[in-house]
Amino acid sequence: MTGDDIIALSDRYLMATYARTRVAFVRGEGAKLWDAEGREYLDLFSGLAVTNLGHAPPAVVEAVSRQAARLLHVSNLHYSEPQARLAELLCTHSFADRVFFCNSGAEANEAAIKLARRWGHKQGGERTEIVSALGSFHGRTLATLTATGQEKVRVGYQPLPPGFRYVAYDDLAALDRALTDATAALLLEPIQGEGGVVIPDPEYLAGARRLCDERGVLLILDEVQVGMGRTGTLFAYQQSGIEPDIMTLAKALASGIPIAAALARESVAASFEQGAHGSTFGGNAVAAAAAVATLETMLAGGFLDAVRESGAYFLSGLEALARRSPAIAAVRGRGLMLAIELHQPGAAVVEACLARGCLINCTVERVLRLLPPLIITRAEIDRALGVLGEVLCR
Ligand SMILES: Cc1ncc(COP(=O)(O)O)c(C=O)c1O
Repeated sequence: MTGDDIIALSDRYLMATYARTRVAFVRGEGAKLWDAEGREYLDLFSGLAVTNLGHAPPAVVEAVSRQAARLLHVSNLHYSEPQARLAELLCTHSFADRVFFCNSGAEANEAAIKLARRWGHKQGGERTEIVSALGSFHGRTLATLTATGQEKVRVGYQPLPPGFRYVAYDDLAALDRALTDATAALLLEPIQGEGGVVIPDPEYLAGARRLCDERGVLLILDEVQVGMGRTGTLFAYQQSGIEPDIMTLAKALASGIPIAAALARESVAASFEQGAHGSTFGGNAVAAAAAVATLETMLAGGFLDAVRESGAYFLSGLEALARRSPAIAAVRGRGLMLAIELHQPGAAVVEACLARGCLINCTVERVLRLLPPLIITRAEIDRALGVLGEVLCR
């Protein structure tokens, strides 16, 4: 099919929920993508923070092929080796003791909210409320869009589930007022992704942890976008000096095969007894095998060091760009989660980069978000900086 055929068919039959750029991709390798006409693109978006190992990473391709030929799926009423190995890997490399597997970021947050509510009920009092941050994004199910601190995702979906309230992000005084005896959990992104790559004060997460401890409130960290090496450590919380009680993962967990996880300490996980929650596909054998291969690749010596080095190199290039371009208000980043904040809306910049074969994203209208694959090379970063310079320094 030609790109136009794919687009026409999609526009005819798919529900119109997405604002799509008119390009149909058919192949990818490393940091490169090709469209149906054979045109090459440099991918600085990674399918929205999913293909962190790049396209067609050999270890994941091999693990998926091997597992698919052996066993595609077994029910969660039985056991499977990939799921067991994945749970062990996640727990031994994080604060967590136990994992619940599901299929998307929204489902992982839904599981975290359910687990916190159930834990809250067991505390004897009335701890049912979930506090989340303004500007946050936690998913599109009814509970997670209610937890999301952005009005636009809630329009038309009322009545919303009760028991959610919002607090200003990166504001410990506001948090101090928001957490009460009715709060079961505080749900936070370590860095707000959809909200514009908002990096809080270095003391914010530690302060939030302290307030949660003082009030007997659980801390849930949503690492759906920032987890899996994106910020230069396997999980973003590992740079904050604190640990959450629950953490959610999805997106890059299996390099592009759908899987998600809610991880928790034993004392909290114990509230999910038999029958308390479930998912048919959660921890599916092929997805779990892909996730094991993904984690093993990221945990191999030097991988995360290289992410930090590439991130620092990219950010210094963006800083140089900011000095030359009056269009840029600020640049920021952690690891390979990078942003260019503009004075003007960024849609035209995204289009101009695409026309030059470079795929970027714009969020909250004026923030260009760069989420390159973690395996991006210096030469590719230089190419990206060249394109951004052409577009932003005219
Ligand atoms: C921080 C965060 N949480 C949750 C989600 C929802 O994930 P999914 O689209 O897989 O449901 C996203 C998606 O962008 C996200 O960025």
